[in-house]
Amino acid sequence: MIPLIDLKAQYQSIRSEIETAALRVLASGEYILGSEVSAFEREFSEYCGGAETVAVNSGTSALHIALLSAGIGPGDEVITVPMTFIATVSAIDYTGARPVFVDVDPATWTMDPARIEAAITPRTKAIVPVHLHGRVADMDPILNIARRHGLVVVEDAAQAHGAEYRGRRAGSLGDIACFSFYAGKNLSACGEGGAALSRNPDYVKRMGLLRDWGAQQKYNHILKGFNYRMENLQGAILRVKLRKLEKWTAARRALAALYDERLDGLGIVRPQSADVEDRHVYHVYAVRVPGRDRVRAAMAAAAIGVGIHYPVPVHLQPAFAELGHKRGDFPVSEAIADETLSLPLYPEMTDAQHLRVCAALARAVGQPQAVAVAL
Ligand SMILES: Cc1ncc(COP(=O)(O)O)c(C=O)c1O
Repeated sequence: MIPLIDLKAQYQSIRSEIETAALRVLASGEYILGSEVSAFEREFSEYCGGAETVAVNSGTSALHIALLSAGIGPGDEVITVPMTFIATVSAIDYTGARPVFVDVDPATWTMDPARIEAAITPRTKAIVPVHLHGRVADMDPILNIARRHGLVVVEDAAQAHGAEYRGRRAGSLGDIACFSFYAGKNLSACGEGGAALSRNPDYVKRMGLLRDWGAQQKYNHILKGFNYRMENLQGAILRVKLRKLEKWTAARRALAALYDERLDGLGIVRPQSADVEDRHVYHVYAVRVPGRDRVRAAMAAAAIGVGIHYPVPVHLQPAFAELGHKRGDFPVSEAIADETLSLPLYPEMTDAQHLRVCAALARAVGQPQAVAVAL
């Protein structure tokens, strides 16, 4: 079986460092926030290009406090995309604001800047572009529109640790940026984690308060906050993994380039490669195949662990029926959802595994001869 991702292989590759770090925290008695979390915040800020980091217990929490700290609340509208994980939209909903969707660009699968202005109303307060699969959204036009209309931009960088847009890092492009360290992410906790970053000291201060019950000092609560604190154990583990991230990203990008090469003859549609100055970090390597469910079943039969990110765009999820959308409202996202298939990709993947995935896909799409050539 070739899995979609292999967390055990990652653990084995860094086992002694993780265990040393974890045991240090367990012995320290310092379990919630703490010195490892503070050190991780400094190191992650430096990694992302300088914005200040507020570490929290999930990417969803990061998005929630980011939006709240920017003053988003009931009666406001926040523009985002339906081709994302539901957390992006749920975080907007938690604030009491209304999520307003714009479709994605069929070439990049990220927010189509040309569609944003038509979605802006007097109630619009923010835009949340999603760096889907580790590719940064087309930020310059998005930021220009936001400046013209006085809107806050919150990057959903949950899948984009270390990704770059025109030489600038995800995390330092918008007013605030949010990351997830969920176990399967490119930079992951052994469990859950997240971070919100900003260069704006007011946002940073409010986010720091909101993650810890709005407490300025213990039992002095100046905001209605939450228990969104990162655990010190996760901070220590993230520090170990952050040191490996560039190496892992290079491995991901090399495997993705190899997929580009080996799948080239199959006539399979992929998101357009990022520009030269951009750095896609391939949290997910997805292709578009007609008859996706049949292809997926054939891959499963060949013991290849494929995924679908995401099978139902958020505007068609029953949980958000109240928004009143129907099929046809965001046709690009819907077409991607119908055809997208994510292939196994993890830094420890071997060339033999990679070839097996390509061969199985070629057979599944009825072009085994293309494999023979590729092999
Ligand atoms: C695009 C996107 N946004 C937000 C989240 C939420 O992150 P978390 O699972 O850490 O709450 C995720 C990840 O799961 C995600 O992929």
